[in-house]
This record gives sequence, C-alpha cells and structure tokens, in this order.
Amino acid sequence: MRYIPVADVEKGMELGQNIYDGAGGLLWEKGFFLMDETVWKLQNLGIPGIYIEDEFSWDLEVPRFIAPELKQEALRLVHDLFQEERYQEVEQDYIQEVAGKITRQVLAERGRMYNLIDTRISEDYTFFHSVNVAVLSVMLGAATGNLGLEELNTLAVVALLHDVGKRYVEQDVLNARRGLTEEERLLVVQHPKLSYDFLQEHFDFSPEICTGVLEHHEWYNGCGYPMRRSGYEISYYARIIKVADVFDALTSRLPYHDPISPSGAVDYIMSNTWAEFDPDLVEIFTKKIAVYPVGCEVALSDGRRAVVWENHPESLLRPIVKVLPEGEVLDLESGREGKELAILELYM
Ligand SMILES: [Fe+2]
Repeated sequence: MRYIPVADVEKGMELGQNIYDGAGGLLWEKGFFLMDETVWKLQNLGIPGIYIEDEFSWDLEVPRFIAPELKQEALRLVHDLFQEERYQEVEQDYIQEVAGKITRQVLAERGRMYNLIDTRISEDYTFFHSVNVAVLSVMLGAATGNLGLEELNTLAVVALLHDVGKRYVEQDVLNARRGLTEEERLLVVQHPKLSYDFLQEHFDFSPEICTGVLEHHEWYNGCGYPMRRSGYEISYYARIIKVADVFDALTSRLPYHDPISPSGAVDYIMSNTWAEFDPDLVEIFTKKIAVYPVGCEVALSDGRRAVVWENHPESLLRPIVKVLPEGEVLDLESGREGKELAILELYM
C-alpha cells in the first residue's frame, strides 16, 4: 500500500483503505477500483490523497493506530454530538467507551512512529480532526510515561470533545475562505468556552475533563484564550491536546489552506515552543512524528523518485526508500549509495 496525492490519482487504481465521510458513512471501500467519476469526486471533496494497492508496494504495510471500524464509530459519535436532533441520544458512557477503545488500540501500537496521512473530506474537517487529535494525544500522552491507563482514557475523552463547541458556529464561518467579520471571529474564539458550557449543560463529566476542553487554546506563555492561563496552570491534558491539535490542523487540507508537510508542522511547533507549547511535550512529540511518512513518494537528489519504506527512529530525515519504478532499495542512513543522497521533496 502507498500514498498518492489526489492530483496523481488515476482511473483503475485500487483503493487500499476505506474512505469515510465526516459522519462515518462509507464512501468507498478498500479494494474498490477507481472510476473516472471517483477521481473527480475525490478532488471535489478536497481529499488530499489516498492510499492505493499496487504491484510496486504490495508488501508495504502502512502502520495505522486505530482500526477503520473504530475510526468510523468515533467519527459517527462526534458527528452525532454536532446534530441538534441527535446529541441528546449520545450517552456519556458511550463516549467513554469509544475513548477507551481508542486508548487501547493506540497503546497496542506503542513505540511506533506516527506515519500516517489522514485522508479526509475538507468540509467535514472538525469531525476527522477530533478523532485524529484523540489518536495523537493518546500517543503523546503515553510517550510521556506520566499517565496511567485511566488518565489516558480521560485524555482521549477530552480530545474527542475539545472542539464540540464548534457546533454553535455556522459551517460557512468555520470553512470561510474570506476574512471573518469581528462578530464571527469572536464566536470562533469562544468555541473552547462553548465546548465547556455544552458539556456542563448536557453531561456529567469530571471537572478535569471539562477544564481540559476549556483550556485547549491556552498558550504556554499566557497569550492564548480564553483565560490567558500559562505554564503549569494549564492542565496537562490541555497542554498535550494543544500540540496534537496544531499538528493535525497544519497537516490537514482545509477549505482555506493547503496541507503543510509533517516536517513543516514539526518545524512550526519547535519554533513556537515556550510561546505556545510545553517544551517537555514538544521534545517527546517531535521524536514520534515521521517527517517522511511510510508509503509517501519523495524526490531524491539524483532526480529519481522513491517511496518511503521504513523510518529509522533515530534518524528521521534519512529513511529507507524504494526507488520508482525499478524497485531498488536504498538506505539513506547507512547504505553506501544511499548515504550520498538526500530527499528534496515530499509529495502529499
Ligand atoms: Fe479548538
């Protein structure tokens, strides 16, 4: 399986993954052969790219943190919380159950790098984002070694719910390609408080869950919102989610911006450590992110193109790659030929 940017997707390619909409509805199933109209629809939905199966990459496994069925279930859950006619049917125990499943599955992948490009529909960003932030947050939370199972479950709940206050903000404001009016901007900035109020009013979650949600846009230096808390005044859950939230937002295709590469997002986070982020968390997080995700195509300095095959956790800029189309395997870290090459570009 390997990743193909949507611009390079062609009729006849075999889908290597299920593709869901933001409500968890299955749009295309793994194994589906793309038709002309599918290619057109993928582009129209703002999906940045897809994983395909082909002869070149049949034996390449792209590590994923949660099973497709769980992703679907979590998407449906978050989506339901946004629907006026559905949210009252969502039970607190069920939210905790889904969060617990996410925690268990992410823990089972403990030790793995985050190697994934989440293929999502740009208009449904908030639903995909909430699920992915839960995955990234639990991965980071587990890597700190400071949180037990119960606490990681709590972290997953906070992450799934952190943006639920956006249910009060119109879609065309959230997805606006124009500048926002002052009134719209204030509403967007209020969403952590709106998330908090929604949970207080309709559920009976612990204060630490509600506080984590309320504080997810606070900055380490006290310049965030809504309360301008700083440093260790901000809950540990919120500090973890802040890192995951920004990484996921930057690497996503949004109606108003193209995705930034994982290395660009890591670079942003590192340059804003101390201002926005807890430095201890940044140090751990950046070691968990594969800047060249497995399955992605890259340009080598000798002009050839290759697919990233495996990452060296200690040397993330120099993975093992397989050259297109002949299939020569090069280790950029230790191979004789590979050591002389560099990666110039990542296609995503
Ligand atoms: Fe947010």
